[in-house]
Amino acid sequence: MSDSELFEQVAEEIYRQGYSVLSNALPAELCNSLAEEVRRLPSERFSRAGIGRQETHLKAEVIRRDEICWIDNSTTAGHDWLEWAGGLKQAINRRLFLGLFSFESHYAHYQTGDFYKVHLDAFRGQQNRVLTVVTYLNPDWNPEDGGELVIYPEKGSTPLMKVMPEFGTLVVFLSEEFPHEVLPAKTDRYSIAGWYRINSSDSSRIDPEA
Ligand code: OGA
Ligand code: MN
Repeated sequence: MSDSELFEQVAEEIYRQGYSVLSNALPAELCNSLAEEVRRLPSERFSRAGIGRQETHLKAEVIRRDEICWIDNSTTAGHDWLEWAGGLKQAINRRLFLGLFSFESHYAHYQTGDFYKVHLDAFRGQQNRVLTVVTYLNPDWNPEDGGELVIYPEKGSTPLMKVMPEFGTLVVFLSEEFPHEVLPAKTDRYSIAGWYRINSSDSSRIDPEA
């Protein structure tokens, strides 16, 4: 499938159901270079992930344990990923008129035992993160390695989907609508999480916090 066919399919599924989960979606070459880069990055580049402005470090650790490293244009892998994500943005804006504007994303490394409890990536009324994108960089993931992404409906506790973090799987969903969690990983788990935002800057709040 070409990138543009893939982007169309994602856009169509977002339109119909608000989420899209596709395996072997990320181009293999791009996925390989990202998978290689995330393993090559020195550990000092990663930092404990937070959960928002007001929360203490201690509180954050109860909710999530992964370590993250923001992705920028300074490496080939980072550049190619951001370009690919830009293509997806364009296709979604064309199909859904979401007005997606900026994109930010980070690598995440879950070590054995790490998890991320049920959360939403954005809150209604605080129109910052509109669409979440997640992709996985684990070439030989086994069911017994845990670390599934579990996606729930807006209301209710019966999962909509349980996704294994397999190499090249792409997950996209409306950030305000789908609570989700990462079950404890039983081995190193590498992913990318990213968010498209609308341009909601105004005089009282210039740039929504990451
Ligand atoms: C996140 C997140 C999911 C995953 O970083 O907000 O939900 O499967 N990640 O890594
Ligand atoms: Mn999330």
